[in-house]
Amino acid sequence: MFPTNTTRRSFVRNALLTTSALTLPDFSAAQRRDLPDVAPSATQEILVRSDVDIATIRPELHGHFAEHLGSCIYGGLWVGHGSPIPNTNGFRNDAIEYLKALGIPVLRWPGGCFADDYHWRDGIGPAKDRPHTVNTNWGNVIEDNSFGTHEFMELCHMIGAHPYLAGNVGSASPQEMRDWVEYCNFPAGSTLSDMRVRNGAREPFAVKYWGVGNESWGCGGNMRPSYYGELYRRYSTYLRNFGSTRLFLIASGPSGDDIRWTRELLDVCANHMPAGLSMHYYEGGPAGASHFTPQQATDQFNIFHRVESAIQHQREVIDGYANGSRTALILDEWGVWDAIDKHDEETRGKLWQQSTMRSAIAAGLGLNLFNRQADKLYMCNIAQIMNVLQSLLLTDGPEGKVTVRTTTYHAFMLFKEHRGNTSVVTRNSDSSQQAVSVSASRSTSQGLLVSLVNPSPTQTVTARCTLAGWTGTRATGSILHSENLNDFNSFEQPDKLHPVAFSPRVESGKLIAELPPLSMATIKVEA
Ligand code: AHR
Repeated sequence: MFPTNTTRRSFVRNALLTTSALTLPDFSAAQRRDLPDVAPSATQEILVRSDVDIATIRPELHGHFAEHLGSCIYGGLWVGHGSPIPNTNGFRNDAIEYLKALGIPVLRWPGGCFADDYHWRDGIGPAKDRPHTVNTNWGNVIEDNSFGTHEFMELCHMIGAHPYLAGNVGSASPQEMRDWVEYCNFPAGSTLSDMRVRNGAREPFAVKYWGVGNESWGCGGNMRPSYYGELYRRYSTYLRNFGSTRLFLIASGPSGDDIRWTRELLDVCANHMPAGLSMHYYEGGPAGASHFTPQQATDQFNIFHRVESAIQHQREVIDGYANGSRTALILDEWGVWDAIDKHDEETRGKLWQQSTMRSAIAAGLGLNLFNRQADKLYMCNIAQIMNVLQSLLLTDGPEGKVTVRTTTYHAFMLFKEHRGNTSVVTRNSDSSQQAVSVSASRSTSQGLLVSLVNPSPTQTVTARCTLAGWTGTRATGSILHSENLNDFNSFEQPDKLHPVAFSPRVESGKLIAELPPLSMATIKVEA
């Protein structure tokens, strides 16, 4: 089920220790988190072991999340039928086009915290008959339920995403969630599946990914891990394959690297291991998104070393259980969570947050580490896809006519070509926390792809990459960069920041890239 095994992981570890062509110290993330905060060097020696595979980079590592929160759904992706904003069946046209261009492998919905107070039956049938409920998690706003299961499935269909439904464990029942599975996945003939057909969907939705609660340690019920473990066992008993789609059940995992949660939960579920365990890890920011100082940016970037350690650590813990290696680790919510501007919240929606050059660097650090840890991760969903936290798309609130592709959108675009490739081992000899972050992948169609992120707000870095096992002759790529860490794509200048062509040198088989401060590049090295 989960394409990873400890044998391959130990192979990669051993390959690093024994076959390295260069004598470089082992700067694994686990060690890096305790490193002193020293200035990075102007020239950094990087090793790319194109001949040492980690794992396939699952497209789902570039997954997304959409919650009924602020203007993510209402006024964001969904403007409704008859809106003056250009739309198709109620979906904002430019947003859909941008998401299609990027490719959205998987989309998680309806929350977040909202999921554990959501009752799916409220969101089906004629929209005029749907109840008006209160979104108690996000400002007590009226939820008219005009966006429900069918609208979400239509959105997924339009953008080519696999649907991932987060079920309500906190305030509902096993029966309610079981019925949602039947409604979505049973072909026809039962009352629930016939209801789906009457509501316009003859074919089952074939939903594979089901979250069994969200943050059950917090907004999802404030449970203790063992109690949630018992509930997980009970729910999962009734969440069966109602059609030909084999369900992939995802248990609510830890906040950050909370080992106690993982252990106590899995102790209860040891003979009943979930297919996936979700972990949430936000990278907090002390300032408003467009008001960071260089030091605040650096502090936030440094959190990514801890995220990488947490992934390694959680993976080890899960692997310690019998059949644990079959349980996928899912970084279900991640991204920068900066100080939210009150005025933005009031005028544009709850948790509306600008995405700056600093946010793009943060996205690049995350996407690089997902490549490096591709053997330990199954899916990663950034929070959130539109108008909430580290968004890919922003509008000027629900009335905003223009949709802006944020710097984070462009960061994802820079990593798109890695999807489906084989991640290979890389290492930077500079051990400072602000050293260039690197990942690389290989494929027959793409050749060798190297992604480099220079998080230093001040230092230009010459990255000299030794390409072990690869004879490179020519390098081409794209770079995203701004000297101003608080720069962003505004509604007035929506295309101010975007990747531009980048042609680093290849000299004596080495890839040599000049990386200005706060820049990220993906480079294709042709043989
Ligand atoms: O993404 C915003 C919120 O953060 C989600 O609703 C919740 O799961 C997390 O705490």
